[in-house]
Amino acid sequence: MFGPVIEGKLFRLRPPTREDVPSMMRWLEDTEVTRFINVTFPLSLEAQLEWMDKTGRDPNRIYWVIEHEGRPVGGTGILLIDWRHGHGSTGTVIGDKTAWGKGIAREVMQLRAHYAFTQTPLRKLKSGYVDGNEASARAQKAAGYKEVGRLHEEVFRDGEWKDEILMELMRSDWESERSA
Ligand SMILES: CC(C)(COP(=O)(O)OP(=O)(O)OC[C@H]1O[C@@H](n2cnc3c(N)ncnc32)[C@H](O)[C@@H]1OP(=O)(O)O)[C@@H](O)C(=O)NCCC(=O)NCCS
Repeated sequence: MFGPVIEGKLFRLRPPTREDVPSMMRWLEDTEVTRFINVTFPLSLEAQLEWMDKTGRDPNRIYWVIEHEGRPVGGTGILLIDWRHGHGSTGTVIGDKTAWGKGIAREVMQLRAHYAFTQTPLRKLKSGYVDGNEASARAQKAAGYKEVGRLHEEVFRDGEWKDEILMELMRSDWESERSA
């Protein structure tokens, strides 16, 4: 599924279109962008279109494009949703590096949590980051995610085995924080 339009202060989240595909391909060509994520190989045009098509039809995924100053700069989503148990895994990629460091990820994670906990019955969002991805760590913490564990030497990057830090945001904590 694609997510509905959500207006933020710095961006709008909206469903992707086929016109976004060339930008999406560029994001994954950049090794600085993919340094801390699982997708480390660029996709072909056909594979990228197929991914978008599959995502649009998958009832267990909600995906948005992040549009900043009128252009697509990245994507975010709630993936691997388990509706029965009420949780999903969140992820964000800002592929246009000129949009980094402006507070976009922090606000994206906050608005995505607001959407999840006010428009769906999900009760927990799971996430994580590779040790060293400070911007991701800080943005997740600012949105209320708490560290719940660590997978040691989980990924191989830049010639080293790195830990993955596991994070989660519970609906109950989000609600208490909101009403405080
Ligand atoms: C990680 C990523 C999502 C951060 O997005 P962003 O919009 O640049 O982040 P923000 O501007 O909202 O910054 C979030 C926090 O990180 C800090 N920060 C930003 N860039 C930083 C950097 N290079 N090093 C350390 N801290 C940084 C900000 O100051 C802010 O901290 P604060 O809330 O304490 O002020 C973005 O860089 C990205 O998409 N990277 C490639 C893919 C990726 O790693 N995705 C995350 C996978 S878990």
